[in-house]
Amino acid sequence: MHLMREIQEISSTSFGYKIFRYNTLSSTNEKVKEIAKETPGERIVVTAETQTQGRGRLAREWLSPQGGLWFSVLLRPQIKPKEATRLTFIMSLAVAETIRILYSLATEVKWPNDIHIKGKKVCGILTETTTQDGILKYVVVGVGLNVNVDLDAFPENLQINVTTLKRELDCEVDIKTLMQKILQLFEEKYLQLLNGHWSSLLKEWKAYASFLGKLITVTSFDETFKGKALDVNQDGVLLVKINEEDIKQVIVGDIAVEVQS
Ligand code: BTN
Repeated sequence: MHLMREIQEISSTSFGYKIFRYNTLSSTNEKVKEIAKETPGERIVVTAETQTQGRGRLAREWLSPQGGLWFSVLLRPQIKPKEATRLTFIMSLAVAETIRILYSLATEVKWPNDIHIKGKKVCGILTETTTQDGILKYVVVGVGLNVNVDLDAFPENLQINVTTLKRELDCEVDIKTLMQKILQLFEEKYLQLLNGHWSSLLKEWKAYASFLGKLITVTSFDETFKGKALDVNQDGVLLVKINEEDIKQVIVGDIAVEVQS
């Protein structure tokens, strides 16, 4: 009952996703996890106008002021736990395509979970899994997209690396239309994934991956190194050529494309 009182509005989209809208939540990923424990369903979406404890990858804080699109999707795909990262890739692709289709902005995906415009981060994705006895029970895919947010909502040190759709378009956009399109494209790709088309989805993702072939700096745990971004393999692992003989496989980390002078 308490849960129902907090909800601002419930609506269903035509793509089979049930959407729960909130004014404020600590984190939409956390709310979806609560729901997952109470219901066996999937394709449940939680969105909030603001998050007080939005989380990014590697336990980082995710700033979530008014004007952004902060949402999480509950899914129960019958795949192996290690294949759940595929959902990050297909959600990145859905967001990158949506921004290109709706606003004609050139988007890039950056391994492992970012969407960039002109080299600046506009969106990040946080995928979290819950397993039982080695079996995937459910996956939460959280999307943080800087939509109608002013750049000065971010601390000065972030402002050089971050952008928002409002900043790129010089106007505000309709957040509901944006989320609907993302969900529509995501659903198409989710069905393709479930039908065994991962290889072609990864190929589509790579078409947006302009960092491939470039010199990058990788930070992975306490190690930092430079190399050429060669490829992302079928497991979503980044392959980096560090010298003529050696290729490193990066499973977890951050990359920055080196500016060529
Ligand atoms: C990242 O780039 O580190 C991932 C950021 C993911 C942020 C989104 S906002 C909606 C959902 N709820 C959260 O607490 N995090 C994700």
